[in-house]
Amino acid sequence: MLKEIESLKERIKNYSLKTPADLEVFKREITGKNGIINEFFERFKQIPSEEKKIIGGALNQLKQLANEMFYLAQEQIENSRNKLDFDFTLPSKEIMAGSQHPISQVMEEVISIFERIGFVVKDGPEMEDDWHNFSALNFPDDHPARDMQDTFFVNKNEKIVLRTHTSSIQIRTLENELPPLRFIAPGRVYRCDSDATHSPVFHQIECMVIDKNVSFADLKDVLYYFVKAFFGENLQVRFRPSYFPFTEPSAEMDIGWNVDGKFKWMEILGCGMVDPNVLKNCNIDPEKYSGYAFGVGVERLAMLRYKIRDIRLFYENDVRFLKQF
Ligand code: DAH
Repeated sequence: MLKEIESLKERIKNYSLKTPADLEVFKREITGKNGIINEFFERFKQIPSEEKKIIGGALNQLKQLANEMFYLAQEQIENSRNKLDFDFTLPSKEIMAGSQHPISQVMEEVISIFERIGFVVKDGPEMEDDWHNFSALNFPDDHPARDMQDTFFVNKNEKIVLRTHTSSIQIRTLENELPPLRFIAPGRVYRCDSDATHSPVFHQIECMVIDKNVSFADLKDVLYYFVKAFFGENLQVRFRPSYFPFTEPSAEMDIGWNVDGKFKWMEILGCGMVDPNVLKNCNIDPEKYSGYAFGVGVERLAMLRYKIRDIRLFYENDVRFLKQF
């Protein structure tokens, strides 16, 4: 067997190891699991024990030689490949650092505007139950918002929905905390709706104040403070009477803007005085406490601020669009 080991050694030394393909062949034929060296080790088990010492030593040397050749060649191939592929004289690639999405920027700005006047931030789940999204907010059983066409129901379970507004966080907070309360609640909301100004996923910021002697004048005061802080002083604003099951009276606020040379109103929020039924549903005495609430559409704010006409641009992740913010 010693002779065979000697001649195998010569054969191994003659292998040319210049390319990755050479390495593969070498591994397959020599050093790999089914290579010839392992075959020799298998045969080694059968030989008489007095020969084992010498042959074992020779075999181990052979194995070491083959492995060294392999790793050396591998290193050389790696090195030369790096040199070939990398031209150090080329200008470096532009690094795209990325930036905060305009929706996130607007959300953060709105939060900071409200934090300045003492509001805290609350949160709630995006998958909601019927109680928090509808019933506790005084929606009647046959309200159209409960329709499959308007709302995403989860697993066809009629009691679980992707929340259709952040107003559900009103209920979550009122159930768990005692007034006086003064909070905002930003988040993602979902509706079956899609066109240039509606998206199936969008963002709202809810706002709520519950205290003794809260009036509609307080609501208007905070709303004017907010739109002025966000859009600046020169602003066209209008209030329209409206209806929401959870407020009485209710209103909507529109902002004037110019699109294609035409003046238009864009609705940005719904608001009102919290309906006594909502307070009762959360075990708060409406004789003692009153409050106001509003929910503002974040995309709408961003569209007005940056003069964006199609809401879908926010979600396409087109770098040419995002770069501008
Ligand atoms: N939840 C309403 C919507 O999604 C917006 C809204 C209206 C929120 C009146 C309020 C409110 O808090 O008082 O359209």
